[in-house]
Amino acid sequence: MRTLYATVAIFTLVTGSTMLSAATYKGQKIYIESCKECHGGGQEFAASKKQRVWEKLMDKKGEKLADIHLSSKKAQPSWKYFESRAFTRGAKHLEDFVVEYASDSGNVPACN
Ligand code: HEC
Repeated sequence: MRTLYATVAIFTLVTGSTMLSAATYKGQKIYIESCKECHGGGQEFAASKKQRVWEKLMDKKGEKLADIHLSSKKAQPSWKYFESRAFTRGAKHLEDFVVEYASDSGNVPACN
């Protein structure tokens, strides 16, 4: 019986972390497609803030993050994206990615 429980626990752990990295990967893809041209390397940019700061920016499907861009003339080329449903739909993945690599996440950005 004990081994069975242990097996189930390990299985849950493994699938759980696989799902997490899948979400992180999706978020990274969004970052590369939609943010990189202005903000540069994704993991480094994610590491410029703490997890709590990212969570606040990405709250309510990234409302705050969109506001910052929509109220900045310099960010005008991004307005169409931040006003689109593609942004709100991907906001959760993007949050997973930036929180995963936040400065206090314990994940050191890979050198590339
Ligand atoms: C067209 C260029 C452009 C794109 C695309 C863009 N940004 Fe920005 N972003 C800016 C500019 C310009 C500012 C500065 C706004 C200001 O303070 O006036 C900014 C500000 C920010 C800030 C707050 C400033 C800081 O460093 O504290 C964050 C966080 C941010 N962007 C993240 C993102 C993310 C995530 C994406 C992709 C979903 C993205 N940006 C896409 C141009 C862009």
